[in-house]
Amino acid sequence: MEIQLWREILDPYNLAVNELIVKFNHIIDEYKHVGAYSPIEQVTGRVKTISSILEKSQKKNFDLEGFEEKIDDIAGIRIICQFVEDIYKVVDIIKRRSDMRVKSEKDYINHKKESGYRSYHLAVYYDVETLKGKKELQVEIQIRTLAMNFWATIEHSLQYKYKQNMPEHITERLSSAAEAILILDREMSVVRDEIMDAQNSFTIKANIVADILTNIQNLYKVANKQDVIKIQDDFFRIYQNGDHEQLMQFNKELDIISARYRAQSLR
Ligand code: GTP
Ligand code: MG
Repeated sequence: MEIQLWREILDPYNLAVNELIVKFNHIIDEYKHVGAYSPIEQVTGRVKTISSILEKSQKKNFDLEGFEEKIDDIAGIRIICQFVEDIYKVVDIIKRRSDMRVKSEKDYINHKKESGYRSYHLAVYYDVETLKGKKELQVEIQIRTLAMNFWATIEHSLQYKYKQNMPEHITERLSSAAEAILILDREMSVVRDEIMDAQNSFTIKANIVADILTNIQNLYKVANKQDVIKIQDDFFRIYQNGDHEQLMQFNKELDIISARYRAQSLR
């Protein structure tokens, strides 16, 4: 097949991957903006390379005609979560969306693969708009925890190194590493609530501080410089105390001061 033709076929998949990365990152932002914990930690994506498409069609023994239907992971998205519980939340989020339709799912978390591999896979249909009109594509979404991702990444590179001939002792090591990962994920789930509280309070504080700084910045434009410097000193003092309540109270007072200045400048 000509390189130009490959490009034409793969281009919409690039668009799909780019769009989906933006959309999943936006979900993270939406959680952050309301000061809530995001079940998605990180999202990446890739379009399968031509050589890897050729390799797969050889391995699975099919010709390239209609390979788009036969290879279900030309477009791949990987969503990384902190906790196992988050994975199911993300699956729910995806199922409720109107821009993706779930074709099939594989729960390799409750049913891990023989290798020890764990992840949740969704095959979804996703539409992109091209110059030729709408095109429906298949996208594979892999959802896993940081720990599962760590294991899969190492195992994948070993698989790559040894091809079909992974030595027995390495397979065994990987298998016991997979057990350790399972235990790690379980331990993390136990402390999940506490970790989430800590992260929440971190985000809330960051949001209040951002608000306060915007307020102070705006005051510089309208208020007496000495007054603003005093306000700034007050802020640093309260900030070092580290009390949310006080910071929130301070921000409310700033809102009032700002409103007063605005009213003055309108007169
Ligand atoms: P493919 O022919 O690879 O698509 O297999 P499949 O259609 O049976 O799908 P499966 O869900 O088994 O695997 C799809 C993808 O999951 C792979 O391309 C890998 O990215 C990942 N995966 C599946 N099994 C393993 C594994 O044992 N180790 C690692 N590291 N990744 C795996
Ligand atoms: Mg597959």
